[in-house]
Amino acid sequence: MPAHRIALIPGDGIGPDVTRAAWEVLTRATALDGATLEGEWFDWSCETWVKTGRMMPEDGIEILRGYDAILLGAVGWPATVPDAVSLHGLLLPIRKAFVQYANIRPHRLLPCVTGPLRAEGFDILCIRENTEGEYSGAGGRVHQGTADEVAVETSIFTRAGVERILRFGFEQARKRRGKLASVTKSNAQKYSMVFWDEMTDRLATDYPDVEVSRYHIDAMAARMVMAPESLDVVVASNLFGDILTDLGAAIQGGLGYAASANINPDRSAPSMFEPVHGSAPDIAHLGIANPIATIWSGAMMLEHLGEGAAAARVMAAIEGATAAGIGTVPGKDKTDAIAAAVLARLG
Ligand code: NAD
Ligand code: IPM
Ligand code: MN
Repeated sequence: MPAHRIALIPGDGIGPDVTRAAWEVLTRATALDGATLEGEWFDWSCETWVKTGRMMPEDGIEILRGYDAILLGAVGWPATVPDAVSLHGLLLPIRKAFVQYANIRPHRLLPCVTGPLRAEGFDILCIRENTEGEYSGAGGRVHQGTADEVAVETSIFTRAGVERILRFGFEQARKRRGKLASVTKSNAQKYSMVFWDEMTDRLATDYPDVEVSRYHIDAMAARMVMAPESLDVVVASNLFGDILTDLGAAIQGGLGYAASANINPDRSAPSMFEPVHGSAPDIAHLGIANPIATIWSGAMMLEHLGEGAAAARVMAAIEGATAAGIGTVPGKDKTDAIAAAVLARLG
């Protein structure tokens, strides 16, 4: 019976609630299919930073390297730790150190979930570049606090980085409906985004079976709401992908439904699975966070670990729960009640 070793980082705010709920579902689902998940919990969070001055130990990355996968809740508690400190101290270094360059974010509608933007036929897979671009961390500030202050944040797009994420997008399109939408802002950003467009056109010749379209990020935002059926796989840079996937979540019905997988496609290091949403300080401690996004992310983890049957079981249980009207309206059902409804439908 294979045992998969999972590092669990619940993090801040609603992170611990949704991680605990997801872990219960994932361990039960896996056991039903004759496999085992062994979890180790790491209390790395903003509370840890307040106590120790670090979000994770100095050898945190090396500790995580020994696991088959990482399941993370959410990081960030801006009331006590500046976001730029907490995110650059935990989440972002993991994505980078483990070369999790492909951030896969599926957005499709679950039964009976409503919302103001819900667009029939919405079923896209967003492929977000996850290690460079606008998140490269290159830049600085001069003349800080004076009238002459200048702040620079440089986006870095490497040929290797752009090529691998575009190829990943093309491959995903082949597995789905054969359409790839590449998103840039090359009308305004004349270096990085023109380069991205050129790479898209060049690589397209290797994938003649994939229908490629290019969109500007602003037009894509409108298209996702107005003409979602025209889209299949959407590939975008780190920042653009970040923004589009909160929009994707909103079209699904809310942040509580959007799942995410930070994948190292070469499997040279662990991949990390986490919801798209953050720590939701506005509802933390109310017990009403929707755990579906984290449970769905966990299903993506099971798929990645080769436990396809358990992953399918989890997805069917999520759909069964929302079809029964549980977890369909923000705030209506408690986190534990939604998790229990999914658990009860695992079969
Ligand atoms: P957020 O995603 O935490 O919350 C945005 C809105 O969505 C809030 O109104 C919140 O209540 C709601 N929401 C989020 N998840 C929900 C869920 N599961 N169920 C129901 N409602 C949910 O975004 P924010 O408020 O901008 O960020 C809060 C903190 O989280 C910040 O510190 C931010 O940097 C951090 N953050 C972390 C991650 C991550 O760890 N991956 C992602 C996004 C934001
Ligand atoms: C996400 C989050 C992170 C990101 C933040 C918290 C740094 O918004 O995972 O979508 O921008 O990648
Ligand atoms: Mn985001």
